[in-house]
Amino acid sequence: MFRAIIVQPGGGFDRVTVGTCLAPAPGPGEIRVRVHANSLNYHDYAVVSGMWGPVEPRIPMADGAGEVLAVGDGVQDFVPGDRVVSTFFPTWLSGVPEVVGFATVPGDGVDGYAREEVTAPATSFTHAPKGWTHAEASTLTTAGLTAWRALFADDHVKPGDTVLVQGTGGVSIFALQFAKMAGARVIATSSSDEKLERLRAMGADHVINYRADPEWGATARTLTGGRGVDHVVEVGGPATLAQSMEAVRTAGHISVIGILSGVDAALNLVPALVRQIRLQGVLVGSRSHQIDMIRAIDAHGVRPVVDSEFPLEDIVAAFRHQESNRHFGKICLTF
Ligand SMILES: NC(=O)c1ccc[n+]([C@@H]2O[C@H](COP(=O)([O-])OP(=O)(O)OC[C@H]3O[C@@H](n4cnc5c(N)ncnc54)[C@H](OP(=O)(O)O)[C@@H]3O)[C@@H](O)[C@H]2O)c1
Repeated sequence: MFRAIIVQPGGGFDRVTVGTCLAPAPGPGEIRVRVHANSLNYHDYAVVSGMWGPVEPRIPMADGAGEVLAVGDGVQDFVPGDRVVSTFFPTWLSGVPEVVGFATVPGDGVDGYAREEVTAPATSFTHAPKGWTHAEASTLTTAGLTAWRALFADDHVKPGDTVLVQGTGGVSIFALQFAKMAGARVIATSSSDEKLERLRAMGADHVINYRADPEWGATARTLTGGRGVDHVVEVGGPATLAQSMEAVRTAGHISVIGILSGVDAALNLVPALVRQIRLQGVLVGSRSHQIDMIRAIDAHGVRPVVDSEFPLEDIVAAFRHQESNRHFGKICLTF
């Protein structure tokens, strides 16, 4: 028996307990993994806090990183000792999206990785980047892959492009790092001047305080000489989409990723039509996208920003920290 976090049906921070789980010997095509780290995402927050609580007792957390302990018959990708990171959609291996919603997502529709050991199909994992800690690797499953897919699978960001990223959460910081890796210019926003300085130190070419400058979309456009940015990594939702449409160039790309300010947006479609904006909904990515991302990371040497690490049993404190919006980058559980 191994330690695991259990969220009771309906969720809620007062309904989170430390329990136990099993991790049997791996069958054909499976691996057994000692999980060492999770990273927190808004989606995990929604499950654990009860916003989108589970219908049955659930081990939370979509992002898991650790070390392979044993492999079943027929497993060719991994050997014991390999460092691995989980995939968001265990059944979406490659090709066009074929998954809808969260029924197959670890930590939501099925048990996740807030547990010391797990036995799962080998295809539920990929290799982790070389030399990364388990906490660093765990940041890739959701936040890293979403940023990667937005910039390089759904769009083709290239040197000289301008990418706009919003706020200093996990997805946006990865988007900043990946855009710089590709030689793009980055305009970054935050509600905090102190965080803006950190974004600048990470390579943001221009920064805008979205609280102090509510018309930040027009400001971003001005910063591109009036042309508009090539790509927006849109995480704010209803409160930001109109400004994102103001910022983007004719036929530019907006990755519709986040719902930080809610879910219902009153949208004036005229700018979208007249300027032929490409609005693309994104739900993380496939295992194949993850392998591509990790190959690029290994080649480039980029490292994620880990804001803080909490022990597994302090999962609620970790989510309270996320709730406070004081973080910069990723919050992790390590165990
Ligand atoms: N579709 C997908 O596949 C996918 C995948 C991952 C995440 N998401 C979604 O993307 C969003 C961000 O996720 P995350 O994990 O990066 O969150 P996070 O780490 O919790 O990011 C929170 C940060 O976002 C910024 N923020 C909050 N409200 C904002 C607003 N109205 N305008 C601009 N920035 C705002 C704040 O930055 P400052 O403090 O700097 O202002 C805040 O610190 C969430 O809605 C999440 O559900 C979607």
